[in-house]
Amino acid sequence: MLTNLKPQPADKILALMGLYKEDPRDTKIDLGVGVYKDASGHTPIMRAVKAAEKKLWEVEDSKSYTGLAGDPAYGTAMRDLVLADSVSADRVAAVATPGGTGAIRQAFELARMANPDVRVWVSNPTWPNHVSILNFMGLPVLEYAYFDAVNCVVDFDAMIASLQGVKAGDLVLLHGCCHNPTGANLTLEQFGQVADLLLEKGATALVDIAYQGFGDGLDDDAAATRLLASKLPEMLVAASCSKNFGIYRERAGVLMAISEKAETTPLAQGSMNYLNRQNFSFPPDHGPRLVTMILTDPALKADWMAELEEVRLGMLGLREQLAKELRERTNSDRFDFIARHRGMFSRIGASPEEVLEMREKFGIYMVGDSRMNIAGLNSVTVPILAQAIATTCK
Ligand code: LMR
Repeated sequence: MLTNLKPQPADKILALMGLYKEDPRDTKIDLGVGVYKDASGHTPIMRAVKAAEKKLWEVEDSKSYTGLAGDPAYGTAMRDLVLADSVSADRVAAVATPGGTGAIRQAFELARMANPDVRVWVSNPTWPNHVSILNFMGLPVLEYAYFDAVNCVVDFDAMIASLQGVKAGDLVLLHGCCHNPTGANLTLEQFGQVADLLLEKGATALVDIAYQGFGDGLDDDAAATRLLASKLPEMLVAASCSKNFGIYRERAGVLMAISEKAETTPLAQGSMNYLNRQNFSFPPDHGPRLVTMILTDPALKADWMAELEEVRLGMLGLREQLAKELRERTNSDRFDFIARHRGMFSRIGASPEEVLEMREKFGIYMVGDSRMNIAGLNSVTVPILAQAIATTCK
């Protein structure tokens, strides 16, 4: 049987991690996978997470199963963090999932369960794993225009024009904040226009929010998701705690389904529990439990928010420094968009050949589409990167 297997394509982002590890140069710079790193290149455990782990070790007295949706308190805490009071609580069903990717996968499964003919719209470009999972599941994928690759901004007119093709019953995937891979985001007003369009078409939005707190702050980054939730009768939300709690390997995500009427919430909840049972049974508990402890303990929450804010401001500072260094080196405002982009990533508009040249000549590792992880930089490496971009990019 196993000899019948065919080799599968390697994930480009994960393959880049391997290439970086193998590079013997100590001057190499890792701007690949979306993992936060401090100025010394280390991915720290956040203070509140460490404190919650210590407390958990002291008080947890059983490792028995929780429930198919995970601990309900986690769903409630995440609903409050992401949606606040934009919808009434009784319209929201939630399940814990293995990371944000697990939430995305379960969202696609749920959409297909509700509509076997569902078509899924994704931005061009989007996180490559969105498309990979959809292809794997055999769901039809449609792309809507999103990025003006010349000016590295959102091409909103083109986006709205392509979304005219949306039909009732389609699922439209939107990045709630900090668009991955581009770093270019819609304004709140534009999100409102997208909501109106989806309402008119009878389509369902799936919001992927994996970087809340990395862009303009916890509430500002959730504003679009909350606006959509307040305008649309139904919606799916896939949220990740990997980045904003720094608990990547613990796999803490949540899928929320907002029903038009509270009476439908048990049906959505039951379907999501069922899907968890079919795919992996009980979701991981350790990461979600830490998140719940932090979000429900005022002191831990305040410390987490303070540290997250330091992380966010650090990345903004690096963006500003890089844009400034590039202005000086190129004598132009061509790369000013880097300071306007938000989140962990910016797609800088270099060709695949230029990306490769920067890897070979300077040991700079960015994804082939020229997505770079801002958090892979520090104040010493920013000028090195600026010099590499200025001399390589035509
Ligand atoms: C990324 O885009 O780099 C992250 O979301 C990590 C991943 O799983 O790809």
